[in-house]
Amino acid sequence: MNILGIETSCDEAGVALVDSKGAILAQGLASHAELCVPHGGILPEVIAREHVRVLPPLVKHTLETQNYSWRDIDAVAVTEGPGLISSLLIGCAYARGLSRALGCPLYGVHHLQAHVLIARMQAELEYPFVALLISGGHTTLYNVVAPNQLIDVGSTQDDAVGEAFDKVARLLGFPYPGGVHIERIARQGKPSIPFPKPMIHTDNLNFSFSGLKAAVARYVEQSEMTDALRADIACSFQESVASVLAVKVRKCLQQQPLARSVVMTGGVAANKRLREVMRVTLPDSIKVVAPEPKLCTDNGVMTAWAAYELHKHGLLEERDVLANPNLHMR
Ligand code: KG4
Ligand code: ZN
Repeated sequence: MNILGIETSCDEAGVALVDSKGAILAQGLASHAELCVPHGGILPEVIAREHVRVLPPLVKHTLETQNYSWRDIDAVAVTEGPGLISSLLIGCAYARGLSRALGCPLYGVHHLQAHVLIARMQAELEYPFVALLISGGHTTLYNVVAPNQLIDVGSTQDDAVGEAFDKVARLLGFPYPGGVHIERIARQGKPSIPFPKPMIHTDNLNFSFSGLKAAVARYVEQSEMTDALRADIACSFQESVASVLAVKVRKCLQQQPLARSVVMTGGVAANKRLREVMRVTLPDSIKVVAPEPKLCTDNGVMTAWAAYELHKHGLLEERDVLANPNLHMR
């Protein structure tokens, strides 16, 4: 069974066709992040209009470039949530229409589950494992027992890590999305500024990043900015985040002794320095798995793959999908 996966939870429109063995036959991606640059953040209305314009030709073009046609689609899977309601609605409406036109089943995919499961596409990964999901909207630690059993064991009490990266990038004069700019300039900097490492010593597995973000804002306000200082701020901020994430994952593993692997996923997991700090902080017996950067940020492959993985385990239910910005894990 070939499944066409469609992802439009935020500012990327992604599509991919996966076959019954889990091979990705075709994939396409259109990012609307550039449109948001002049506004310094996400503009849901602008993004939704762009999804409407781009999604139908993107699907057609993705199939055609690999010589596939509508007849090669046996099922459609779409991100139902969580995400921006206006973005989700476009993907769900399109997917529903397509499945009806083709007379094939329609499946709903949970976006965060897809971020986690995609790690199994490129690496041997036994259940149970620990997953750290770090994206623009989420910072959550899961004990992953089965493809459909992701137990939330800790999450941010305020800002998501990606939000903090984007805010610090903006303070330093970089456009949205800023995480990639922080990583780049941090390479030239030193971790010389003692920014806080929020909640690092608490026993629970929750996070908080708003205080760190505010500390960087205060520091920037009081400083005479130079390129060297900008790099030191980025580097010091990134090191604080890296230490908090790694220490929390280490604590989580102590509570989940059966887990032998850690997955880092979501847009922020594209950051190589965060991966490196995780690797050196955890015991050698623990495998650290992170999808390749283009599979960490939102894409259609993760949606198609999650549907494939759930279907393989008999866990995918055919039903009408409903866009839900606050969708809970079932
Ligand atoms: O998963 P994602 O593409 O979208 C959401 O579902 O949120 O994550 C986007 C987030 C943005 O905050 C972006 O700045 C951040 O991921 N990001 C990074 C890097 N690449 C993307 N943060 C730090 N370092 C990076 N290399
Ligand atoms: Zn995402």
